[in-house]
Amino acid sequence: MTDATPHDPGDLRPVILPFNGVWPRIAGDAFIAPGAVIVGDVKIGAGASVWFHVTIRGDVAPIRVGARSNVQDGTVLHVDSGAPCEIADDVTIGHGAIVHASVGEASVTIGMGAVVLSGCRIGAGAVVAAGAVVPEGTVVAPGTTVMGVPAKDRGPLAPERKAALDAIAAKYAANGAAFRVTIADLRRGT
Ligand SMILES: CC(C)(COP(=O)(O)OP(=O)(O)OC[C@H]1O[C@@H](n2cnc3c(N)ncnc32)[C@H](O)[C@@H]1OP(=O)(O)O)[C@@H](O)C(=O)NCCC(=O)NCCS
Repeated sequence: MTDATPHDPGDLRPVILPFNGVWPRIAGDAFIAPGAVIVGDVKIGAGASVWFHVTIRGDVAPIRVGARSNVQDGTVLHVDSGAPCEIADDVTIGHGAIVHASVGEASVTIGMGAVVLSGCRIGAGAVVAAGAVVPEGTVVAPGTTVMGVPAKDRGPLAPERKAALDAIAAKYAANGAAFRVTIADLRRGT
């Protein structure tokens, strides 16, 4: 095999669309994966990463994703009319989560497949376990963990478990930067 690109990489662009004349604003060093869809009044912070098949639809209210936060593959961020979705800095949102018209404060982890219903506030450093469903309007205290359906407070994680989750945001920021290089090379045809 001499071909350095054995497969056609397809369309390497994400879908980024305005809504009602408002375009997404994306930091120059954020990584937005091919095939992600970002619409309307959306702001993505420095070093953030938005992975494959994510939808972020800021149509009837704004959506914010903070610096170095990662929104992993297949996640949906959406809003209610006049009720924004605000994800602060250094947040990890695992694969296939849904966060609807809610606030995730700094360094939160929202586990894979979790559903955060409208009007929730996930306090700084809190963890929403994989697969949890957080009922509408829930306030999760900073540093605590919620698990299950419906999600119930299970207190803080063991420190080593929490440290492992906290390390994810920086790893994703680095991985997003590496993907930016790969995709830029592919677009140049090198
Ligand atoms: C919540 C989590 C951090 C584990 O917390 P933990 O307290 O260390 O959990 P343990 O494995 O020690 O289990 C403690 C209890 O919680 C339960 N539990 C663990 N994870 C759970 C989950 N996701 N949902 C429901 N219950 C869960 C265990 O069954 C156990 O129950 P028991 O006390 O009745 O026996 C982990 O399960 C999780 O959901 N991580 C999210 C990972 C992720 O999605 N990362 C983003 C992508 S990189």
